[in-house]
Amino acid sequence: MSELSADLVELIEAARAVRERAYAPYSSFLVGAAVRAESGALFVGCNVENASYGATICAERSAILTMVATGQRVITSLAVFTDADKLAMPCGLCRQVISEFHRDALLVVANPRERRVLRFSEIFPEPFVLDR
Ligand code: THU
Repeated sequence: MSELSADLVELIEAARAVRERAYAPYSSFLVGAAVRAESGALFVGCNVENASYGATICAERSAILTMVATGQRVITSLAVFTDADKLAMPCGLCRQVISEFHRDALLVVANPRERRVLRFSEIFPEPFVLDR
């Protein structure tokens, strides 16, 4: 694996650690996410499932809601950590929510065995924008 900046290593480690708090009794698919805001602050989130499946919150959105609640609105990088054999990408709903708050963000998707770094815009080039 190629060298990453200390900032990105810290981001991935935060996503890895919070994944252990995921509440996923229905899918057993644990996800951790970490976002870095423009201020440099880190926010983490994990998936929280519900018996009413549609009420489930993804890890990425959980982290972003916490960031916004602290008054910050610009994501400069984010990491998603799973244990899936194939690196898990943010779902469509999360992509739309990330798009609301990111600025040219780097995205790292990782599992304990590998990681991939890309630009968020590569995986979601044309978000919905409410332009009346
Ligand atoms: N999940 C996330 O946390 N992030 C995603 O981007 C996709 C899916 C969660 C939701 C659910 O708890 C589990 O993964 C299986 O879909």
